[in-house]
Amino acid sequence: MSMSVTVRDIQRLKERGERFAMLTCYDSTSARLLDEAEIPLIFIGDTLGEMMLGYSSTVPVTMEEMLHHAKAVTRVVENAFVVGDLPFMTYQVSIEEGMRNAGRMLKEAGTNCVKLEGASPLVVELVARLVEAGIPVMGHLGLTPQSLHQLGGHRVQGRDEKSASRILSEARALQDAGAFAVVLEAVPASLAERVTRSLVIPTIGIGAGSQCDGQVLVFHDFLGITPYKVARFVREYATLGPAIVDASRRFADEVSEGIFPRREHSY
Ligand code: KIV
Repeated sequence: MSMSVTVRDIQRLKERGERFAMLTCYDSTSARLLDEAEIPLIFIGDTLGEMMLGYSSTVPVTMEEMLHHAKAVTRVVENAFVVGDLPFMTYQVSIEEGMRNAGRMLKEAGTNCVKLEGASPLVVELVARLVEAGIPVMGHLGLTPQSLHQLGGHRVQGRDEKSASRILSEARALQDAGAFAVVLEAVPASLAERVTRSLVIPTIGIGAGSQCDGQVLVFHDFLGITPYKVARFVREYATLGPAIVDASRRFADEVSEGIFPRREHSY
């Protein structure tokens, strides 16, 4: 895929049965690299809180923090479709507040869409209103980390038939409200497959098996620089954490031993 990716391109991927990748990203240097790698969807997730800001969950992340990092990403991305996460309590209080904050994400940060979690009646109505206003919306079901305290931790969702059926009907409700894609996080592979088959819009899985239309991973997880033990569903495509520690140690050693800088590094 070249040129700027659009919602229509993403829909066509589903229609053609082509799988696609999405990666989270929170800064311009990383965004440039992901765009160069032709990652079609770049996502400023509220995992920003854990990966970049040292919070222990996504709950404390603010709208201002999201906008600050989203702007850094959109300043440099030329091809990917950029997704901006709406953080906790910026869209759950009222439709008006949700509309205003989603508008800020597009107008101030320049993302191509917003993502929000859950499918409460308020969220479903908000999705419809945002779409009506011209703002594409990506949903997020299953494990919704903003509801961490309500869910009682980071647990797999939809294991029994009752909660599986609820997730399926929530996915349909988001689709009917006009969402263009839905993230499915930490649900059994069989449920993710059922949802994927029953929707005309793409599903994007994380810990949701191999049958989703797309897959998303967190930047720090897939590069092996996450500050804590990664979840079972993560594949580390590189182990940059140890490489960074090693390079830092060598730099410090060479400075103390007078090896760096050399003549060629000097003016
Ligand atoms: O914020 C985030 O990074 C996410 C992904 C885990 C899908 O929501």
